[in-house]
Amino acid sequence: MKIALLAGDGIGNEIMREALRVLDVLRSEGLKIETQEALVGGAAYDAHGDPLPDATLKLVQQSDAILFGAIGGPQYDKLPRDKRPEKAILGLRKECDFFANLRPANVFPELADASTLKPEVVSGLDIMIVRELVGDIYFGQPRGITGAAPNREGFNTMRYTEAQIRRILHVGFKTAMARGKRLCSIDKMNVLETTQLWRDIAEEIAPEYPEVQLSHMLVDNCAMQLVRNPRQFDVIVTGNMFGDILSDEASMLTGSIGMLPSASLDANGKGLYEPIHGSAPDIAGKGVANPLAMILSMAMMFRYTFNRTDLAARIESAVRAALATGLRTADIATKTTKPCTTAEMGTAVVKAL
Ligand code: IPM
Ligand code: MN
Repeated sequence: MKIALLAGDGIGNEIMREALRVLDVLRSEGLKIETQEALVGGAAYDAHGDPLPDATLKLVQQSDAILFGAIGGPQYDKLPRDKRPEKAILGLRKECDFFANLRPANVFPELADASTLKPEVVSGLDIMIVRELVGDIYFGQPRGITGAAPNREGFNTMRYTEAQIRRILHVGFKTAMARGKRLCSIDKMNVLETTQLWRDIAEEIAPEYPEVQLSHMLVDNCAMQLVRNPRQFDVIVTGNMFGDILSDEASMLTGSIGMLPSASLDANGKGLYEPIHGSAPDIAGKGVANPLAMILSMAMMFRYTFNRTDLAARIESAVRAALATGLRTADIATKTTKPCTTAEMGTAVVKAL
């Protein structure tokens, strides 16, 4: 097993450190795993003037999996687009063809009251968002800003090829097969042709998965249904842009975006694993960030790239056990609990493991 470690910016380093402590426990038990670090995002820009240096890309290409922290910071917002930290994650996804993004939203019983929604709405929630990651308006050409003020025009293009739609829908159907066998495909077919094609292809593929119950929902309705009655969903499959927005929304059902891991997979199971939260510049360096999304991302790595469901399950149980001790980082703390530090939460997971 060869893993590239890209901690990135902001809280990236702090949460990565805790994930590596978990990895060290597994290593001490004999797990053979090779790790190598590289700079990415703002950190790479500061050192080399490039958010995704060739050396980093090369390391990623030679690795089986990538653990990715977070990138970005306000100091980079004025840079040209191809120098910004975000370019690194978008570039990695595209270069490595990590097209299938799995974003689970589970409510741990220990955290049922951490959500801003009522516990009776969210408790027991277990949904999986399958987001397409290398197409859509994120990458469509043409794009840009033309003209001169006050008549400038900004434009982006939403586009999907049939092949791109097909392969992510197959991931959606297969994911549903392995879970509750219900797949909800999200589109905006009442307005956008791209997503009419999406819906047509979903219908066409459905007979290949007779056990899966396929439904369709417009994205605006889905945004509403996610807060009205989120447990109606099992697997959601959607495009890059809608998936970006809906997965942030879904994360808050679980109490904190600081809890949610993700996997971005290519067609061969190689993957990049990262928390869905960002670099949180406001709390960076303070040692208070929640490391659990990073640790849970590592669990996903064992499950999806290395087929070590046993290790994934162990890490997930250890996270639950850590939460059961009552420890809470600030993002999931209640009025009566004193927030713990990043390292204290990491220690609790390591102990439970
Ligand atoms: C995400 C992030 C990224 C995205 C940004 C950082 C480019 O929001 O992973 O959800 O929009 O995909
Ligand atoms: Mn996002």
